[in-house]
Amino acid sequence: MRQLFFILACMAVLPALSMIARGGGNSTGTGGPAERGAEPGVQRAEFGKTKDGRLVELYALKNRHGMVAKVTTYGATLIELNVPDRNGQVADVVLGWDKLAPYLGEEPYFGATVGRVANRIAKGTFTLNGKTCKLATNNGPNHLHGGLKGFDKVVWQAEVQPSSAGPSVRFTYHSPNGEEGYPGNLTASVTYTLTDQNEVKLDYAATTDAPTPVNLTNHSYFNLAGEGSGTILAHELQIEADSFTPVDDTLIPTGEIKPVKGTPMDFTTVTPIGARIDQVPGAPPGGYDHNYVLRGSKLSLVLAAKVYELKTGRVMEVLTTEPGLQFYSGNFLDGTLKNRNGVPYQKHDGFCLETQHFPDSVNHPGFPSMILTPDRTYRSETIYRFSTRK
Ligand code: GLA
Repeated sequence: MRQLFFILACMAVLPALSMIARGGGNSTGTGGPAERGAEPGVQRAEFGKTKDGRLVELYALKNRHGMVAKVTTYGATLIELNVPDRNGQVADVVLGWDKLAPYLGEEPYFGATVGRVANRIAKGTFTLNGKTCKLATNNGPNHLHGGLKGFDKVVWQAEVQPSSAGPSVRFTYHSPNGEEGYPGNLTASVTYTLTDQNEVKLDYAATTDAPTPVNLTNHSYFNLAGEGSGTILAHELQIEADSFTPVDDTLIPTGEIKPVKGTPMDFTTVTPIGARIDQVPGAPPGGYDHNYVLRGSKLSLVLAAKVYELKTGRVMEVLTTEPGLQFYSGNFLDGTLKNRNGVPYQKHDGFCLETQHFPDSVNHPGFPSMILTPDRTYRSETIYRFSTRK
């Protein structure tokens, strides 16, 4: 029996190791011939150094259908995602760069793993077990996406994982007690798997030695026609949610849960993103930047949203175990940042579908709790699944 276990364990580990070997070590290029010719697997390369001299790596995951996802240890960030269209033409469907430098400067969380708590916490304050925690404020009066130096701005440790589902890499980060004001030493991980079903599968886990809020998400900006190809306003979207959490002028939830029916927030049926975007209430720059309350079981993986791009036929489905989905229509992009070919990223050139617990949950007892205690392991799963149709 023990021998059988050993053989099975070896069968699981060997493919992952041989993928790295086949990939030839340090040859990851962006869309280069080496990559195009390469077999499925994982390739590792150096991506650069942080300002304080830390080495940053890049992992290229390639599946059996030629889909490629590139993830850097800086922010466990998805920098490139090459997906075929209905004619087999491959394009990068996420906004971002092929160099480390722009990620080290001011940028809007392109592709990053966001934490310790994604989205906003009002005035950077909450009370936990009678103790007030004061967090860094980095978004007007509020705390946003983990603070001044969130999980998107730290170097994670990477480890290639044995997986029969497809090439897989786990990224781990130890966040010390008091970082950005959060209580407890937290160990967080996100495993990226590029499955042979053309899915980017994200498995999050975290443990802590003291109670702390945790809310991890991925902040990819998608454009299914290809990044740098214009706005996403014609993309057709459906969200599996009958209600949303309205916000105040600083994008903090008021605490209400309102039905979407009869409002521009309603994506219960397939609707172009741009159809009613000008009617969305809220402070400038306007557009969608709201948390949807997802239908379905909160414990199992359920469909959260589906997006279709007419010209290329690309379809993306989002599945998650999370109760909420932040739909953000790239409202703050203003042409300042340029893509790798010098094309400016303008307002609405990408959209985000961030799976999450509701923003500012720590201050709303009526929202599902995001508090992790030392006796539990935080787990969360999200899948971005790609296909095409006529
Ligand atoms: C999230 C927020 C937005 C904005 C972006 C980053 O999606 O909800 O308001 O801060 O991140 O620019």
